[in-house]
Amino acid sequence: MKVIVGNNDYISGLIAEEFVKMVNQKPNCVLGLATGTSPLGVYANMIKAYKDGRVSFKDVKTFNLDEYIGLEGTHNQSYRYFMNTNLFDHIDIDKNNTHVLKGVGDYLGYANKYDELIKEAGGIDLQILGIGSDGHIAFNEPGTPFDSLTHVAELAESTIKDNSRLFNDISEVPTKAVTMGLKSIMNAKKIVLIATGKNKAKAIFNLLKGPMTEEVPCSILQKHPDCTIYVDEDAYSLVK
Ligand code: GLP
Repeated sequence: MKVIVGNNDYISGLIAEEFVKMVNQKPNCVLGLATGTSPLGVYANMIKAYKDGRVSFKDVKTFNLDEYIGLEGTHNQSYRYFMNTNLFDHIDIDKNNTHVLKGVGDYLGYANKYDELIKEAGGIDLQILGIGSDGHIAFNEPGTPFDSLTHVAELAESTIKDNSRLFNDISEVPTKAVTMGLKSIMNAKKIVLIATGKNKAKAIFNLLKGPMTEEVPCSILQKHPDCTIYVDEDAYSLVK
């Protein structure tokens, strides 16, 4: 794994350029996208590149990592809503080509065919990941099998607590989600992970220095052939 250290603006800019480069090289590429605070700067830079006429997303397909069970796509904390408002509404992507797992209705039926849909699209060319303070990626919490495909997951107590900052009250945070599995993520051809802030320092230490174990879901990335970790000084502080 390669590691790049810099402030949030710097690493967000670098990752956005990776996306721009990928889309310009392969206009019908498949992008794996993530939600959370971490990728916001990346998406802002991608929007700017589009507005500056440096890239077009019109033939791009996207697959998002996860969605809360119980939230409609119109709910302001759903990951579909997040993607529309923070990226898709501001670029020329065809929304029919944007895939986000469903949190209501036949969410299980859709989850069960998600890996197949990704495969049919040609596989993910570039996947962005954030990381949970407990080392989760997407909603793969500690203990998730390394060979997992898209599935229903129970959120860890610490994740519910971390994510409650975005809800009115902790009682409103869904306790379950649908998520791409660790194997689904590892199938991506290229992966970039972004982490900033002291509360990610332990997870980043475990990712870069710890053993590969299902107790630390992100540690599986150690065996990905093309994975780069972008961190700020705070997230990197325990490694140095
Ligand atoms: C959620 C998401 C993850 C994300 C994590 C970190 O749990 N399911 O995909 O990486 O939060 O979020 P943030 O970037 O807001 O710290």
